[in-house]
Amino acid sequence: MNSEKPRNKIFDKPNDVVRFMHISDTHLWSEKRGQPFGTAGHDPVIWKSIWEMLPALKPDAVLWSGDIAAGQDWKAYQIPNSPQGPLKPTIADIRYVKDYHIPVYSVPGNHDHYVIFWKIFFYVRTKILFQKFFQSGNYPRLNVFKKKDMQFNIFRIDSSSGITAFDKMTLSAGCLHKRDIKILKNWRRIAREGGEIYGIKITPEILSQSWNILIIHHELTDDRFYSDISESSKIELIKFIAQIPIHVIACGHLHEQNVSYYPLFGPGRLDKKRNWLYMKNNNRLRTEHVRISRAGSTCERFEETNTMNLIDFNKTTFSIKTLLYDKIENSFLPNKM
Ligand SMILES: [Fe+2]
Repeated sequence: MNSEKPRNKIFDKPNDVVRFMHISDTHLWSEKRGQPFGTAGHDPVIWKSIWEMLPALKPDAVLWSGDIAAGQDWKAYQIPNSPQGPLKPTIADIRYVKDYHIPVYSVPGNHDHYVIFWKIFFYVRTKILFQKFFQSGNYPRLNVFKKKDMQFNIFRIDSSSGITAFDKMTLSAGCLHKRDIKILKNWRRIAREGGEIYGIKITPEILSQSWNILIIHHELTDDRFYSDISESSKIELIKFIAQIPIHVIACGHLHEQNVSYYPLFGPGRLDKKRNWLYMKNNNRLRTEHVRISRAGSTCERFEETNTMNLIDFNKTTFSIKTLLYDKIENSFLPNKM
């Protein structure tokens, strides 16, 4: 029996579907440098298998939600850019998977803000090496991706650029930079009234006829001290998600896979009486919840589970499927947990 057939069946992609492959927390690290404290770096076998699966998975684009490398390090960022890596350089602020001509949309994670000397992490707000070797462009960022008569507005936010001296003690907490919060407030106004973001025309009609995706490293559903996002950042994000409206958040950070709905209203979230959540013309609330696609640590070494998500959109709906790395098959297979 041909073993390829059942596998291809598992990854079946209908003609009307646009598929995003969502990976996260790859923690790339050069083996020559030795293991840094606090992360094991990536497993080269699993890393290779991610890109070898492209012909079976047939993604139209890749979402990569941060902690690309274990620390800001030029050797680590050369791994995806090496002849064996998936990326080829472009002058735009997105990169492409070599040979498949599919775009890669990414954000930095907290680890992409650290430099590591010997075994000690130092936080660097500016993430210079990430910008230089992995991806150019400032954050927050908007990219538009069009395929099969669908428009995807992909908002990319850096959730690690605003941490304070206290946050530094936790190494991994999330906080939006106050400059970025100002920009997001302006984008919310554009979402209501129309305007341009980086030269891209945005109106309430365009947003309502598109799929809107947010890529961010930290996420909203977890409140653990060492991993949560600050309250002020969280409320700004929830307002942004409600008003755009965002349909899917692609995130990571916790190294645990999760696909769920996140309600935007309730204690510590939004109050329905506040009228800034309503569209000006027809008073219609844009959204009450958002779908979370949290990928685990896709190829970190020694993880018990390595996961990625497939997000399949058609014109009316979308679904999220988690794939789990199988050591024996050396590939990602549907999660039966
Ligand atoms: Fe992280």
